[in-house]
Amino acid sequence: MCGIVAYIGKENCRDIILEGLKRLEYRGYDSAGIAILNTNTDDGEPAVEIIKEAGKIRDMEALAVKSKIDGKCGIGHTRWATHGEPTAVNAHPHKDCTGKIALVHNGIIENYEQLREELKSQGHNFLSETDTEVLPHLLEKYYDGDLLAAMQELVKRIKGSGAIAAISSHCPDEIIGARIASPLIAGVSKMGNFLASDMPAVLKHTRKFLIINDYETVRLTEGGVEIFSRDGRPVNRKPFKANWSIESAEKSGYEDFMLKEIFEQPYGVKETMRGRLTDGEPGFEESGLTCDQIKGLSKVQIIACGSSYHAALIGKQVIEKWSKIPVEVDFSSEYRYRDPLVEKDSLSIAISQSGETIDTLAAIREAKSKGARVMAITNVVGSTIARESDSVIYTHAGPEIGVCATKTFTSQIIIMYLMGLYFGRLRGFIDKERYREIISQLNMIPGKIQNILDRAEELKKIAEHTYRKSCFLFLGRKHGLPAALEGALKLKEISYIHAEGYPAGEMKHGPIALTDTGTVVVGIMPLDSVYEKMLSNIQEVRARRAMIFSIVSENDGSIHEYADYTFKVPETPEELYGIITIIPLQLYSYYIAKNLGRNVDQPRNLAKSVTVE
Ligand code: F6R
Repeated sequence: MCGIVAYIGKENCRDIILEGLKRLEYRGYDSAGIAILNTNTDDGEPAVEIIKEAGKIRDMEALAVKSKIDGKCGIGHTRWATHGEPTAVNAHPHKDCTGKIALVHNGIIENYEQLREELKSQGHNFLSETDTEVLPHLLEKYYDGDLLAAMQELVKRIKGSGAIAAISSHCPDEIIGARIASPLIAGVSKMGNFLASDMPAVLKHTRKFLIINDYETVRLTEGGVEIFSRDGRPVNRKPFKANWSIESAEKSGYEDFMLKEIFEQPYGVKETMRGRLTDGEPGFEESGLTCDQIKGLSKVQIIACGSSYHAALIGKQVIEKWSKIPVEVDFSSEYRYRDPLVEKDSLSIAISQSGETIDTLAAIREAKSKGARVMAITNVVGSTIARESDSVIYTHAGPEIGVCATKTFTSQIIIMYLMGLYFGRLRGFIDKERYREIISQLNMIPGKIQNILDRAEELKKIAEHTYRKSCFLFLGRKHGLPAALEGALKLKEISYIHAEGYPAGEMKHGPIALTDTGTVVVGIMPLDSVYEKMLSNIQEVRARRAMIFSIVSENDGSIHEYADYTFKVPETPEELYGIITIIPLQLYSYYIAKNLGRNVDQPRNLAKSVTVE
């Protein structure tokens, strides 16, 4: 859950690396560092120079800017601590005993204790508490005039995961990288070449990328990128062109990435539908599934974590309703340990915005080992989950930098709706008129989201009145339930206030005991088939003196009698309320967190890509 970036080329590398790190800060932000082959030395010979610091990248940047480092080859790292506290000593880059090799790493070395003991017994000196520090010492051990060969030996010794980049004054004209189950891409440009954990790090300089696969090593020089297979043979791979723009990875005048990404949702939703609703008919050619296979599906199994799990819950409701295929939804982290049954003719769907979540990846591997056919839904082209699945559906929401999922979440929901309709039509279970109605209503979703965004001030005011409360319960039923779960997740992750999402009907079985004057109950209660039931549940908590904030439909006339605050959303068929009702909850959580002075883009203890279990 860290970010790495490396550059070698014609330009001075310090600022390129610092800027790349800032774009990767969403992956980890407790300490940072750079190592540069400094040519500003007394004898003019390039020497490894490391600058690292605990805290934000800007703390380390201040030191780097003051230094006299000058060089055209370097590596950088932003950390999310796993082994050892976030201190300057534990920050990357780490170096070998000679100080001639420096290395950055994103991942976990599971056998580091054993390697550390072995290296110590051979005279190597360790300075930090990290697992990573064994890596530069392994390179030192295996270095015999060829850093690439040493890296290839290192890869053979490691258990765990890693995206690695190393430089050395032994060979100042190259950067050597390797990948073992952590994301790593190479960027190719005329000004030089890059390695990075993710594309936004170097989008400013290039949109041409090469994917590095597991157990491959890579050599970067000013003039090129060479990739080598696990057994050391050169790999011939063509770069692909990313369609993400640099503007999409910048704040563009918004106070935070999260706010920008919330406001980008009408566009993100349209982009996700574009090309998939040709002539008004949803299409999923990339699924690789034939009509007969879809007609014969015995079950759909969805695996996901966090917000993606909530999108999966919406998927379950609409796929079951429209196509009559039974759908199971599992947390990825539970699925792989419960000895799941993979039925004949079933389809497994893995949802992950980042495409790198290790729990989901492990669940995919578990499902595949049992013979499942796995389809991925992700926002990141070429991500590990995309590559390890049998087929992939991209969401096209654009890069999401804020740690909190917003536009990627709504784009996942769109895919769920379209897939439900697609399966439903092919299997003949959805009424034709209803099918047409839902498709035409789907086309109106971007406009309805815009309508809500245009009234953000209303939510800001409600947040100002409620942000001091210490307990929030988000209640919903049926299509309102996934939104309630997601609303609570948004609030807790960015404001650090205790919040729970709950099925409204379950309150009386326990949680109602929590309600008192310090509680805010957020009721997701659009005018749908369970509205009356929601109304009763809201009255129950109101009788226990909770403060009530209700998300209702625009034609709701009676809610004022029961709620302290209301926010009205445009009417829509009830299946589509899942996407409509989450928008005010995202904004509400955002404004509460801002009132509390939180860093919404980088909430404490969280990272955008969760690549550790
Ligand atoms: C919440 C959030 C997380 C992710 C979860 C899964 O705002 O972002 O809960 O949804 O970590 O991540 P992906 O979708 O990348 O697998």
